[in-house]
Amino acid sequence: MHASENAPLAPDWLELPSDTAALDEGVWPVTARRNGSGELELGGVAASELLAAHGSPLYVIDEQDARGRATETLAAFTDAFGAIGAEVELHYASKALVTIDIARWMAESGIGLDVASGGELEVALAAGIDPAKIGMHGNNKSRAELERAVSAGVGCIIIDSLGEIELLADVAASLGRVQRVMVRINVGIHASTHDYLATSHEDQKFGLTREAALDAVASIRASASLELLGLHSHIGSSIYESEGFGAAAARLMMLRAQLLADGPVPEVNLGGGFGINYLPSDQAPDIRELARGIAAEVQRVCEETASSVPRFVFEPGRSIVGPAGVTLYTVGSTKTVTVPGESGGERDYIAVDGGMSDNIRPALYGADYCVRLANRVSDAAPRLVRVVGKHCESGDIVVNHDYLPGDVTVGDLLAVPATGAYGWSMASNYNYLERPAIAAVRDGVARVLVRRVTIEDLLAYDAAWNGKASS
Ligand code: LLP
Repeated sequence: MHASENAPLAPDWLELPSDTAALDEGVWPVTARRNGSGELELGGVAASELLAAHGSPLYVIDEQDARGRATETLAAFTDAFGAIGAEVELHYASKALVTIDIARWMAESGIGLDVASGGELEVALAAGIDPAKIGMHGNNKSRAELERAVSAGVGCIIIDSLGEIELLADVAASLGRVQRVMVRINVGIHASTHDYLATSHEDQKFGLTREAALDAVASIRASASLELLGLHSHIGSSIYESEGFGAAAARLMMLRAQLLADGPVPEVNLGGGFGINYLPSDQAPDIRELARGIAAEVQRVCEETASSVPRFVFEPGRSIVGPAGVTLYTVGSTKTVTVPGESGGERDYIAVDGGMSDNIRPALYGADYCVRLANRVSDAAPRLVRVVGKHCESGDIVVNHDYLPGDVTVGDLLAVPATGAYGWSMASNYNYLERPAIAAVRDGVARVLVRRVTIEDLLAYDAAWNGKASS
């Protein structure tokens, strides 16, 4: 039955669940299941046990799931590009979620790292990642960040502006190094995603146009301290239609063919941006099909322009770690709201102990998530709910629309899947809320990756704090 037939305030896309306990396998991590007493278990550890040990809310990462996706993604691209005679390297986009251990999981799967700031670079180096397998991004890298990257031996720095060429050439020369670089190209494709997540249309800050790239490449080739490795394009993030990736690859390959007339362009980096399932109704692209589709476009342009096949790099972030993450919350208050009028109806507001500080995506992009009762199953009839946080904003929404059993009450635990990417990494301490810990679960064991940031930690930044609790 369609949800709106049941609850007038429900959006058209929301299905009334036949089973409010079901864990849709397209959305939940690979080890998610209900144990004998109906409780949600992740990596063999029960939700209540996780919260009792590490506090609520809690980010949980299913290690088997994250590692599995890393390996599968590498295999998908290696197979598809191997078939056209190209080598592939993956750089996990650390902005999605990085801790020292997560960086190591990637390295153990044979994957390098994409870093977008001096801070992300420090995590990569602290993890012992081979600097040659690090790509450094940023539209406004400081001289200090560039110096650190060059002296650490970062494999590639992705140039984002003409001014950066001069700065980096000078940094590399003064360190007595020759730095390999790529040029980020704005290929002019407006990816179908939220405006803030589209990065390759004309009116935004990233990359150089194809015309400006000709000058950029000429200056790099003329510089004694820079070496041109290739071209980069990232059309945006959270993309579900694969056509944009193929079209971007084709445009970049055409530009490369032109540049080959004056020297080598050994590598092409096509970024990341592959969409994932946040809701059971989402249809994330199949990574193998996607890889084959892009490889086919590359092959076509290489044949048409009679150019060699380069080496490729991809930078997936969300599609590796997003589906591996689940956020657990505790319900603190509930309220039924009646919206008057013809299109009105009832909705239950379920308030949890986190909110926009642990997941800003609903407020920032209007992102939709789904939710399940985690500590038990219930045969109470489903009710339309909005899960909200505890911040002083009405836009403090965790899950805008879903159904939960009608008897959800204070003290119950809720689980929101697909929060592994851009949750913790974009978290804040708004309203002085503590930042939840991240626990990795695997084979019945939970391990803290990053501990909870406490109010005492926050007070410690306040220069006027006397270091004592007030009572
Ligand atoms: N490469 C480059 C150059 C990027 O800028 C990004 C993402 C990626 C790779 C990885 O994209 P992914 O595979 O994770 O989609 N905060 C937003 C996403 C911003 C992405 C920024 N760049 C969100 O929560 O959806």
